Order: sequence, then structure tokens, then C-alpha cells
Amino acid sequence: MPSLRIRLVGDPVLRHVTPEMTDIDAEVVAVIDDMFEAMYAAPGIGLAAPQVGISKRFFVYDLGDEDESRQGVLVNPRITGSDGEWYFEEGCLSIPGQNFEICRPKSIEVTGRDLDGNEVAFEADELMARLVQHELDHLDGVLMIDHLDEDQAKDAKRHVRELQMSRAGTPDPLEREPSLLRRTFRLR
Ligand code: NI
Repeated sequence: MPSLRIRLVGDPVLRHVTPEMTDIDAEVVAVIDDMFEAMYAAPGIGLAAPQVGISKRFFVYDLGDEDESRQGVLVNPRITGSDGEWYFEEGCLSIPGQNFEICRPKSIEVTGRDLDGNEVAFEADELMARLVQHELDHLDGVLMIDHLDEDQAKDAKRHVRELQMSRAGTPDPLEREPSLLRRTFRLR
């Protein structure tokens, strides 16, 4: 059983905009292994710090292939360029059981830092580009359901309500703060 609990849609921490990290402290380093563990157990290919309740600007990822450049930790990621359009059915560990086809740029240029604080810059295409865009959204308090069209949003709303109701016995954040539901589904 992973030691970190993945936060689900409706949890306010998923809506925080994380501040730029000025240093990579021992607390962050200590949690990395646990984040990978939670991500693999889910299973998923990316996990942003807010998804485990840590409002800091980094995410872990592993596309699960031979290419070692496609796994690691990215701190303070920034997209500096993008090109093309690519449709892909996205899922999110914070919205289990839901996948939506979403169009985003096909390729991007990314900068950031690794866990040692070194600057990194790379180009990403298709799945890797999608992963970075999705996880970077998490660091800005944005969820994939913010990218849906009207019909997709209706489906998602129904599903999230079911998800909330099935979590019997746990306090329901939507119940506590009704405005959360509106924020969760703001469209842009
Ligand atoms: Ni996600």
C-alpha cells in the first residue's frame, strides 16, 4: 500500500497554483520515492505534487519504455514553444475511471530543473508532450476536465458526482463548499 494518498477531484489542493520553487529541500527529495511508488501502484505515467497534497511545483513521470530520458522529476517546468495539434484520450489519477479525448499541441519545448537543480531543456512530442502539458496544468491548479467541450463536461460532471457519492463515510468537499463544483468545471 503506497504511503501517499492520491487526492481526488473536489480536493481544494488540486486547485492551488503552486509557487516557483527556489530550492529543492530535503522534504521534497524525501517524498520522491513515495510519489513514484504511488504513481506505479495507481498505475499511471505521471504524478504532480499537488495530487498527493503537496503544493509544490514539480512532478514525477515514467512513460514506461526503454528511453531513460522519459522518466524522472521535473521542477519548475515551463513550456517555451509549441507546435501542431494532437488528439489523445487523456486520463487523470485524480479523476479515476474517466478518459476524454482532448486536443492539445502535438510537440512542445520544455525547460525546467532536475532534482539536482540543474537546468534542463528538451523537446517533447506526442505522449511525452501530452504528459508534460497535463502535469504542468496540475501545478497551475488546472484539471483535464477544464479542457472539455460541453458534451464531455456533462459526462464528467455526472461521473464526479457518482465518485463523490461512492466515497461514503469520507467528508465530501463538494458538500462543504458548493462553489467548488462550479470551479471544478469552469470551461475555457
Ligand atoms: Ni492528472
